[in-house]
Amino acid sequence: MKSVYLDNAATTKVDRKVLKAVMPYFENFYGNPSSVHIKGQEAKKAIESARKVIAKSINAKPEEIYFTSGGTEGNNWALKGLFFENFPYGKNHIITTKIEHDSILHTCKWLEKKGAKVTYLGVNEEGFITPEKIKNSITKKTFLVSVMHANNEIGTIQELEKIGKICHEKKVLFHTDAAQSYTKISLDVKKFNLDLVTINAHKIYGIKGTGALFIKEGIKIEPLLHGGGHERMLRSGTENVPGIVGFAKAVEISKKTDYRKMIILRDKLIDGIFYTIPEVKLNGAKGEKRLPNNVNISFKNVEGEALGAFLENKGIYVSTGSACMSNTNAESHVLKAIGLTPKEQDSSIRFTLGKDTKDKDISYALKVLFQTVEKLREAKDIKK
Ligand SMILES: Cc1ncc(COP(=O)(O)O)c(C=O)c1O
Repeated sequence: MKSVYLDNAATTKVDRKVLKAVMPYFENFYGNPSSVHIKGQEAKKAIESARKVIAKSINAKPEEIYFTSGGTEGNNWALKGLFFENFPYGKNHIITTKIEHDSILHTCKWLEKKGAKVTYLGVNEEGFITPEKIKNSITKKTFLVSVMHANNEIGTIQELEKIGKICHEKKVLFHTDAAQSYTKISLDVKKFNLDLVTINAHKIYGIKGTGALFIKEGIKIEPLLHGGGHERMLRSGTENVPGIVGFAKAVEISKKTDYRKMIILRDKLIDGIFYTIPEVKLNGAKGEKRLPNNVNISFKNVEGEALGAFLENKGIYVSTGSACMSNTNAESHVLKAIGLTPKEQDSSIRFTLGKDTKDKDISYALKVLFQTVEKLREAKDIKK
């Protein structure tokens, strides 16, 4: 059966070149990077050269990159680490948005129990935050603004440069969760005035359970994990050497991805759905302010779960709501925040393209979608 994977925002297939690059770090260079012998030093060298690659990709210094276990850890560390650093000085206010990933929102909820005050700013119908709203929400107690670079469900890209300028002027720290945008669109920590950035490997054909947090030189932050003092005393735990080596390889490979081609395919899918299927709605931003790989559509009078299951039967893998929420069946806080009714939320499907998605895959998905949506709508009419 044909297999068309359109769930690349959930995770990506590990690239063969990544696999090839990491294998020696399982088989030959398996030493602990903290060991002084040659086996350990080989592993250490690999980590440090990976650090340079990751740093360069966001215009940072290698010593500003701290390896983590992924996006969830990076977001937890940024928020908790800064809160516990700033709270003793009377600073307890965080500004974030209603459409952040749960690893931000649930961390904020937990921090509220510890004494934090959190402002959750709303977004407009395309998912944009207004930078002015951030400016007006900053108080004397604000220590942090955390706004994601691009949304995982609807692909909306925020105006980080404008937000960064405000934070810089107001002397408030600025963090972004770039798990979905990293390497797909440009991210320059200096240009955007970023103090902290969360990135991970498994969205870019690297290995799951690997990521990094950029922390600008001079910023004070409490560690999340205590132990042997790895990562310059800030993130203890023996490093995931193969994961880190693979992460850097994935970043190198990403330079070869043709995002213009991906945008053409993305728009072919959007236009094709609008051309062939009546009563559909595109969720998220239009055009350049949308991630090159994201399409999110509500199909009126269709249950997203049923559509997803039918598509799977035809070998097409998509996501209903946010796949990161792992089967919780919870409503989508993102779709709700952009004003979708519960029915519209239930009828939404996220398609996310990958670097290997082909024109013929999109044609096939369009053909199957057209037939399936029609069938599901007919069945609903008969039941009435
Ligand atoms: C925007 C965003 N942030 C954070 C995460 C969590 O990353 P990880 O799976 O590496 O923990 C995800 C995962 O889907 C995400 O999409």
